[in-house]
Amino acid sequence: MTQKSTAILDLGNGSDPIELPILSGTMGPDVVDIRTFHARSGMFTYDPGYLSTASSRSGITFIDGDEGILLYRGYPIEQLAMNCDFTEVCYLLMKGELPDRDQKSTFDNAIKGHSMLHEQLVKFYTGFRRDAHPMAVMVGVVGALSAFYHDAMDITEASHRELSALRLIAKLPTITAMAYKYNIGQPFIYPRNDLSYSENFLHMMFAVPAEEYKPSPVIVRALDRILILHADHEQNASTSTVRLAGSSGANPFACISAGIACLWGPAHGGANEACLNMLEEIGDVSRIDEYIKRAKNKDDNYRLMGFGHRVYKNFDPRAKLMRETCHEVLNELGLHNDRLFKLALELERIALEDEYFISRKLYPNVDFYSGIVQRALGIPTTMFTAIFAMARTVGWVAQWSEMISDPEYKIGRPRQLYTGTIMRDITT
Ligand code: ACO
Repeated sequence: MTQKSTAILDLGNGSDPIELPILSGTMGPDVVDIRTFHARSGMFTYDPGYLSTASSRSGITFIDGDEGILLYRGYPIEQLAMNCDFTEVCYLLMKGELPDRDQKSTFDNAIKGHSMLHEQLVKFYTGFRRDAHPMAVMVGVVGALSAFYHDAMDITEASHRELSALRLIAKLPTITAMAYKYNIGQPFIYPRNDLSYSENFLHMMFAVPAEEYKPSPVIVRALDRILILHADHEQNASTSTVRLAGSSGANPFACISAGIACLWGPAHGGANEACLNMLEEIGDVSRIDEYIKRAKNKDDNYRLMGFGHRVYKNFDPRAKLMRETCHEVLNELGLHNDRLFKLALELERIALEDEYFISRKLYPNVDFYSGIVQRALGIPTTMFTAIFAMARTVGWVAQWSEMISDPEYKIGRPRQLYTGTIMRDITT
């Protein structure tokens, strides 16, 4: 981070203009450093939704939404998706470099060494209704991990942070799969150390004690790709939630639970579930026009789920990769003629040709395709966001740990523009 030049701000109130440093990172837009602004002017800046505000400095993920670029630690997402598996990407996000063969094997073994849940924690599941949404279970069970690991709760210790990160990355697949098994009333399937991260998750989701389960390599690769593409995404809503929660010194399990709660919203990670529900609601290709009309109607706040992105306004590189995987999986499973898949592909075609969507730069996002892929893998719609949370956990812990080790880190405390009633007295 270097100072490039100075911005001069005239507040128009007769006071001397304020000089504010302009800082450069290694890539991306420069920032005006307003940290001293309030102390020098008595004013705050106003930026609902943080459209213009860099909340932190970070060396993990870079996005250029106009150019459709996404880098993890400098590597383009396309190259990572083609050449790496998910745990290599986890290692990269956490440590900054890709692992060599020995480092990968040590890291994979460390994850496998933490994949089981404490049996006491397993008992938590029975406290939930069978029909509880898996994300509700995830928020609860991940938060409850806070009560189990007092041995490594000193967040100022790098080794404690690393151990907590490993525990979270290792246990999330187990927690997620158990949420599903509990929901459908099947016995929990425990993790297996001879399987890869993605194979193991599929095993815990779909194996039953009565018979052998062996997923096809295309399916394992598709899941691995979903995990890689969702592993981190810079300062999005849930990551910012994890950072804000963590900025008070809260423990990492509580912070990740807060991130899961935020991710659940339909404008964020809940979009893939909302997208499949929308396809079910549309029901048939003949009704697409009706729904597109609704999405365009200014008096109707209906939106096409799985379309649009806050940052990617030309194309989302993850959506392009996921689209490829989508076709690979539909071919492998012979599903191109399935009613909902045909409907999704037709919706994609119509929206891509429609002036309303073109002029607003609304394209199918990664979750449009990841929802279709997950449905093809036999994953129920309600599990989609839970799988997103499992993938994003590594990004959340990497960002949380980076924040804690940054000497500039402070508790997050946004300000406000008060618009309520001015001070008054109670009249008696
Ligand atoms: N369907 C129809 N119209 C839309 C959609 C949509 N999905 N998304 C945006 N628009 C329209 C808006 O109505 C607005 O139109 P106007 O200019 O005529 O008023 C214009 O496009 C810009 O919309 P904004 O809400 O200002 O765009 P923003 O960048 O803030 O929103 C968001 C991005 C929240 C993702 C939005 O596109 C959306 O709600 N999409 C559907 C939900 C979704 O798929 N979310 C997943 C995001 S990806 C992820 O979290 C991994």
